Amino acid sequence: MEIIISPDSATASREAARFLAARIRKNPGAVLGLATGSTPVPLYREIIRRHREEGLDFSGCTSFNLDEYVGLGADHPASYRRFMQENLFSAINLPADRIHIPDGLASDIPAHCAAYEKSILDAGGIDVQILGIGSDGHVGFNEPTSSLASRTRIKTLTTRTRSDNAHFFDSENDVPHHVITMGIGTIMEARAVLLLAFGENKAEAVAGAVEGPISANNPASILQMHPTAKIYLDEKSASLLKRRDYYRWVRDNKPDWQRDC
Ligand code: PGA
Repeated sequence: MEIIISPDSATASREAARFLAARIRKNPGAVLGLATGSTPVPLYREIIRRHREEGLDFSGCTSFNLDEYVGLGADHPASYRRFMQENLFSAINLPADRIHIPDGLASDIPAHCAAYEKSILDAGGIDVQILGIGSDGHVGFNEPTSSLASRTRIKTLTTRTRSDNAHFFDSENDVPHHVITMGIGTIMEARAVLLLAFGENKAEAVAGAVEGPISANNPASILQMHPTAKIYLDEKSASLLKRRDYYRWVRDNKPDWQRDC
C-alpha cells in the first residue's frame, strides 16, 4: 500500500488524477473501474479539466462502474447511472457503448451479475480501479462480513450506509436496501487500485483498512494484499493513522523514476 496524505481533498484528487491520466496516456485502451458517491467528484472534475485543457483522450477506453441500487433505473435522480452521466460521462469522450454500470432493473440479477463479470474479463480486466470507502470500511457496496473472495452479486446495505447515503435521496426511507456490487475478488483483480477517502467520518475506517488486521469486518483492509494500492487521504481522514509521519517521509523521498508507478 502507498499512503498519500495531502492537505485537502482537492490536492489529493489532483494527485490521483495525475496517476490515472499517466496510465491512460501510456495505455489509450485502458479499462477503468469507476466509483460513485461524494468522494470521487473532485477527481472527476480534474479528469474533465484534463480532457478539456490537455486533450486527455477517453475514446479508446472502456469503463465498469462498481455498483448500482436495485430498483433504480437511469431516469432516477439518485441512480448511479444518472450520477455518472452528470458528473463525468457527459463531459468526456468515453464512447457510450463501452460504458458498463450494473443494471438496477435487471430481472434476473444472478445472470446479470455473471454477465457483468464476463464483460470485465472480455475487456481484458480492469487496469485502474477508483474506490471510495464507506464509514464502515465497505468498498463498492461490499459491506462488512462480505466474503473477501466475492464476485459481482446482490448485497444488502447496512443501516449505517443507508443513513450515510440518505443525502442523495429525498429521505432515508427512500434509500434502497439492496444493491448490485462488484465483489471484493473482482476489485482485487484490477491491476491498480486508487482508494480516496476524505473527512473525519472516514478516519476510523481508513485506520482499520491501512493499519488494522485484514478482515472481512473492514473490507477495504484486503487492499493490504494488493500489489498496487494507492490510498489518497486528506489530513482529516489520515488523522488516526499511527505511522502518518513515515508515510509522508516515504512520499517526499521517492526516487523520481518511482513517482508515477
Ligand atoms: P462517499 O461514499 O464517497 O459518498 O462518502 C463512499 C463509499 O460508500 O464508498
